[in-house]
Amino acid sequence: MLVIMRKLCCCKYWFIVIVCIASFSTLVSAKNHENAANELVNIINENRTAQKLQKLNNNPGLGCIALQYMEECNGTCTSNGTMKCQTPEDDFTEVYAPNCGIELPTFGTLSGRIVGCQSKYLKPSEAFTQIIGRDQKTLSLVKDKKHTEVGVGLVRSHQGPFLWCVLFSNDKVNSTFVLEGGGKGIKQKRGCFSGTNTPCSSGKKIHLLLNNILIVIFSVFVFYVSGIVHL
Ligand SMILES: *[C@@H]1O[C@H](CO)[C@@H](O)[C@H](O)[C@H]1NC(C)=O
Ligand SMILES: *[C@@H]1O[C@H](CO)[C@@H](O)[C@H](O)[C@H]1NC(C)=O
Ligand SMILES: *[C@@H]1O[C@H](CO)[C@@H](O)[C@H](O)[C@H]1NC(C)=O
Ligand SMILES: *[C@@H]1O[C@H](CO)[C@@H](O)[C@H](O)[C@H]1NC(C)=O
Repeated sequence: MLVIMRKLCCCKYWFIVIVCIASFSTLVSAKNHENAANELVNIINENRTAQKLQKLNNNPGLGCIALQYMEECNGTCTSNGTMKCQTPEDDFTEVYAPNCGIELPTFGTLSGRIVGCQSKYLKPSEAFTQIIGRDQKTLSLVKDKKHTEVGVGLVRSHQGPFLWCVLFSNDKVNSTFVLEGGGKGIKQKRGCFSGTNTPCSSGKKIHLLLNNILIVIFSVFVFYVSGIVHL
């Protein structure tokens, strides 16, 4: 590696190395921040551990259900950020679970539910304070000692508001809401859910694109300064 770098340096190709390192580091940092649902789970767990409560297991099955639920609740966002979702409760077992590839026998207890919406994209930390921290009822769900697992789903309804959902369960960890084949068969067309490494399929993409444009501008600048490109 060092030899290659030295070779490149002596050939005045050092700028390519810089550009590569810059692109690589933005890609890596983007990778870690691509799933906003996972970030919200981390923030919930930080808040819990700061209060000496047990960390919640990030359950992808719960996350997948949360995302499905939000997709079906689109168009019910009110101006104060609450949602008037009136989908049948049976849809959890009859629609969302099968869509996620969750076997009915592993469908556990949904012991808490928080939903919220915002017209603009919120960073996960803002979503925590504005959606979860909005009242005592939602905060008490985060602080519930009986909770063992959590899942977050996030989706933007067609050019409309961003919909967030946090689901809690109090079952034995990793024994319920089990996704078939670890969830590998689940096509996540829109939005994102926690417990997977799959990046969000909307929202954050814009930032990635912006990053790449900035890299190109930066590269041209470096090329120009190093006298390779004469504008
Ligand atoms: C809600 O979702 C359905 C199905 O995905 C879609 O046809 C409809 O346009 C959506 N409505 C809104 C308001 O986003
Ligand atoms: C939000 O608005 C809905 C009706 O649009 C109302 O029922 C609810 O109480 C309001 N919530 C808060 C916290 O103001
Ligand atoms: C947990 O989050 C709530 C809502 O933002 C905040 O009021 C509280 O101080 C936080 N607790 C800890 C220990 O960080
Ligand atoms: C549950 O599963 C996750 C992911 O496979 C693992 O990291 C975690 O340690 C498991 N927890 C328990 C209590 O088995």
